[in-house]
Amino acid sequence: MKKSYMGFAADSETRAALEQFARDLYLPEEDVVDGDAGAALEMLSDMPTPECIFVDLGHSSSPLDELDKLAGVCDPGTQVIAVGTVNDISVFRDMLDAGIADYLLKPVTPDRLKQAYEKAIAPTSHGGEGSAKALADVIVVVGTRGGVGTSMVSTNVAWILAHENKKKVGLVDLDPYFGNTATLLNLEPGRGLSEALDEPDRIDNVFVDRTMIKEHENLMILAAEEAMQNEVPMDAASIETVIEKLRENFQVLIVEPPHGNMQAVKAAIRMATHIVFVTNYSVVGMRDMIRLSGLANQLAAGTRQIVLANQGTAGKSDVNAKDFESVTGLAVDVEIPSDVRGVAGALNAGAALPVGAPKSPVLKTLRKLCSTLYGGAKPGKSKGKGKGKGKGKGKGKSEDKGGGGFFSSLLGKKAS
Ligand SMILES: Nc1ncnc2c1ncn2[C@@H]1O[C@H](COP(=O)(O)OP(=O)(O)OP(=O)(O)O)[C@@H](O)[C@H]1O
Ligand SMILES: [Mg+2]
Repeated sequence: MKKSYMGFAADSETRAALEQFARDLYLPEEDVVDGDAGAALEMLSDMPTPECIFVDLGHSSSPLDELDKLAGVCDPGTQVIAVGTVNDISVFRDMLDAGIADYLLKPVTPDRLKQAYEKAIAPTSHGGEGSAKALADVIVVVGTRGGVGTSMVSTNVAWILAHENKKKVGLVDLDPYFGNTATLLNLEPGRGLSEALDEPDRIDNVFVDRTMIKEHENLMILAAEEAMQNEVPMDAASIETVIEKLRENFQVLIVEPPHGNMQAVKAAIRMATHIVFVTNYSVVGMRDMIRLSGLANQLAAGTRQIVLANQGTAGKSDVNAKDFESVTGLAVDVEIPSDVRGVAGALNAGAALPVGAPKSPVLKTLRKLCSTLYGGAKPGKSKGKGKGKGKGKGKGKSEDKGGGGFFSSLLGKKAS
């Protein structure tokens, strides 16, 4: 896995500055190692080149030769920031001519390292002219109700795609006050989401490295636990810009809008490449499934819709699968069983299900969803009569039995 940076320090002062720089930008401190350009050469010849390398030239009398050798083992496009003691403008110029991003004189400060780093990697963040970057898929996970397990799904799906499917995943928890995806993974939400919504145009590689929480090399989380008395701008334009910008930095974005915030739900749906609805088997769940799917048909016609029915903590549901499908006219693509012990156990351990409850039947169904999305597996299990084919298009037969009262009043309101 390609690291975002590595720092080679030939003395303790440089090492301390690099470590502080890493802490300031939420980069992994363990990527600062002892060694000079020779050590960097040895180490980098055996691994994928990080995006940016800090090389301590120590007291080398021929820094250009050292850097030249290093260039031989690095990928083109790698940004190299050299640190040294030679205070000579012609050496500095020669280094820049040789393609070094910056040359810093010792002793270096964390701020100076940060400045050089930001300058070095920023131009690549917008994908320079002609370098059309692949944009991430945007999988929007929306709950029909509060508490139906939307965050459990989004967090675990993000984890599985990152750790097991080896995708570079960004998990975007759009609830600045009550989001709990980071907490489910035992991480501090920080203020990343608030900062992103505040100045969405500023989002680039550096912003991602600095403000998103790194769960793993492949999984970064944008979240917040904003003080309730603070206002966070949640307008559709800001949300759409955040998603648009982040698409440049990941292969997959899992976006969870807060339940009931229609501004955020609509903005996320407009940006979606896939929409995953999480619902329970309840009368109101059916009603809101119909309404949400209809909304998605309107805002994002043609975008793939996937329906997950989660048994959640409920021992018993108001509605069975067959009735759910015939009333909504939507096929349930994946049914998630109830596993209070497993899900709560993982939650208490602050771990994703594959780690906290690897035998949970819930995990099996979430893996099925991931393979539906990325493994070429066929979505949908054929349950009930007259349903769609997992595309969220209403094809049910409205004359199917749906029960009485409010339940039956839903008949005829299928998603369209
Ligand atoms: N299949 C399941 N089996 C057992 N417990 C579950 C299951 N799915 C979710 N839960 C539990 O249900 C509760 C609600 O889950 P979660 O927080 O993911 O829902 P949510 O829809 O995101 O809620 P909110 O609307 O508050 O954001 C949690 O305690 C979670 O552990
Ligand atoms: Mg939630």
